[in-house]
Amino acid sequence: MSLKQPIKPVLAAACALVTLANAAPAMSKDLHSYAALDQVSTSHLHLAVTVDFERSEVRGSASYDLVRHTDASEIHLDTRELTISKAEIAVNGDWQDTTFTLAEAHPALGQKLTVQIGDKADKVRIHYASAPTASGLQWLTPEQTAGKQQPFMFSQSQAIHARSWIPIQDTPALRLTYSAEVTTKPGLLVVMSANNPLGDERPGRYEFAMPQAIPPYLIAIAAGDLAIKEINQQVAIFAEQYIVDAAAWEFADTPRMIDITEQMYGPYLWDRYDLLVLPPSFPFGGMENPRLSFITPTVVSGDRSLINLIAHELAHSWSGNLVTNATWRDLWINEGFTSYVENRIMEALFGTEHAQMELSLGYQDLMADLQRLPEGDQVMHLELGQRDPDDAFSQVPYVKGQLFLVYLEQQFGRQNFDKFLRQYFADFAFKSIDTATLKAYLQAELLAKYPSEVTIAKIDQWLHQPGLPVDAPRPSSDAFTKVEQQTQRWLKGGQLQPAGWTTHEWLHFINNLPLDISAVNMARLDREFKLTDSQNSEIAHAWLKLAIIKKYEPARDRLRSYLLTIGRNKLVSPLYRELARTPDNLSWARDVYQQAKAGYHPLTQSVAEGLLYPADTTTEDK
Ligand code: BES
Ligand code: ZN
Repeated sequence: MSLKQPIKPVLAAACALVTLANAAPAMSKDLHSYAALDQVSTSHLHLAVTVDFERSEVRGSASYDLVRHTDASEIHLDTRELTISKAEIAVNGDWQDTTFTLAEAHPALGQKLTVQIGDKADKVRIHYASAPTASGLQWLTPEQTAGKQQPFMFSQSQAIHARSWIPIQDTPALRLTYSAEVTTKPGLLVVMSANNPLGDERPGRYEFAMPQAIPPYLIAIAAGDLAIKEINQQVAIFAEQYIVDAAAWEFADTPRMIDITEQMYGPYLWDRYDLLVLPPSFPFGGMENPRLSFITPTVVSGDRSLINLIAHELAHSWSGNLVTNATWRDLWINEGFTSYVENRIMEALFGTEHAQMELSLGYQDLMADLQRLPEGDQVMHLELGQRDPDDAFSQVPYVKGQLFLVYLEQQFGRQNFDKFLRQYFADFAFKSIDTATLKAYLQAELLAKYPSEVTIAKIDQWLHQPGLPVDAPRPSSDAFTKVEQQTQRWLKGGQLQPAGWTTHEWLHFINNLPLDISAVNMARLDREFKLTDSQNSEIAHAWLKLAIIKKYEPARDRLRSYLLTIGRNKLVSPLYRELARTPDNLSWARDVYQQAKAGYHPLTQSVAEGLLYPADTTTEDK
């Protein structure tokens, strides 16, 4: 694998595209940002900040290059809980103070910052400090890290949290380049979604450049006692020392994943691809920060069984980071395409059966979500209003989006569909698009070009109707059918023979056990297969959830320690949701939560509190 140079996006010469873009409906407005990009936008950010662990704040200045589209004399930026101390503007490098106003806080969007820029300024600079409670940052004390010697901090900007640590036009419709100079405690390493230092020095002052234009939600930072281990010339692991070797082993297939994706969908355009393994409180499985995906340590399972997460975050280097959803209503354009590409990578590496099992597990999660979600949250072009996008998070953009693409692949044939996708990534590289633009592109480049039975009405049904169309693909897996047959035999007293079962088969088995399974059978399973003690975070999660439902008390201590050591929202929130169903469990869960809370990320805190302290009950002991 040769190290690839970043390539300047060459927009497809195709005139067809130009016509199409002009014909497409005007881009829908992003209701989650106060930025008015049609008046003035920002093309480059320079951050000069200190990461201050004493005060848990990021402090300094954000300077922007301005691009004027009208004669507007002010710019609107998004902020949340930021303290703004000063604003300046420059005309040809000559800086002077200017006035600004900070509006009342909107509960989901934060505060609009309006800065006067006159009619000549070509740059604006904001001096600011973040709040210790910034929704997009987590600050960990040395005791909360594995090494116990140094503190740790990291950002999670998607969806609308960049504004809690940078005053910014926080909409994915914007793309900007950035550079940064960051100062922190000597001895700590700072990394960003940019070019990162690979050497041994830890001077506490670092410079970064991200020369490719990215949306603000992909600006990322982390600081801590990080070791580095290279997998090859292009890929390295950044992590605390205790896990760096294990992670390098677990994710050793990453270079092959890059090769496979390049062969299918075109060149990887981001130079290096490194992985940062975070502390266990990282609220997501992964985050596709360009050049440096952020990864939960809970997928370092010792058997490489959860590496579809790496395929997923890598896939975002095409779907999401090259071609970006223009608003959070269009999240499926990021996540549906990425889930599809992820599954194609897994298929190429590990075969059809493996990929089918993963698709099938996703399908089961989607069906569970469709059961509980209101109709507006079941459509791909989400009806968000001004709700925080985090509150509508579900499997719909992911798995319904993925099934839509599987459906198109089946209807048009893999060869045609692959060609289409490759062209799509090239045509929209470094652009943000909405669902209407995508629909017009599908019509012109797929429906009109290849014979099929797919009508535009069918496309509309996928995009705008709740639930799934009757002819949607229904993933199935032979391996899972065999698991189900074994389950039936075992329930009638037969032996379970899981020798050779993968993590996926175990998950399918546990998730599909009948809810009236007897206490004796629970104990029998646990005795034979040590499920309570499973060190696989997904298997333990599935088992602990069942244990709550079945009131299987021997799993209590493990449940407590699981909730106290892991902060990944997807793994802990379903357990709290299950615990909240009975008064005894709820009060036990509140106790555990009070202990766990300080170690949880703000996002996991807010989801867990929504479950354990719903609005109508007392919140005094929160
Ligand atoms: N970009 C997402 C995480 C995200 C989505 C953060 C929306 C904020 C708002 C990331 O790529 C992701 O999807 N992670 C999944 C991975 C899984 C589907 C393999 C996760 O964290 O579980
Ligand atoms: Zn994703």
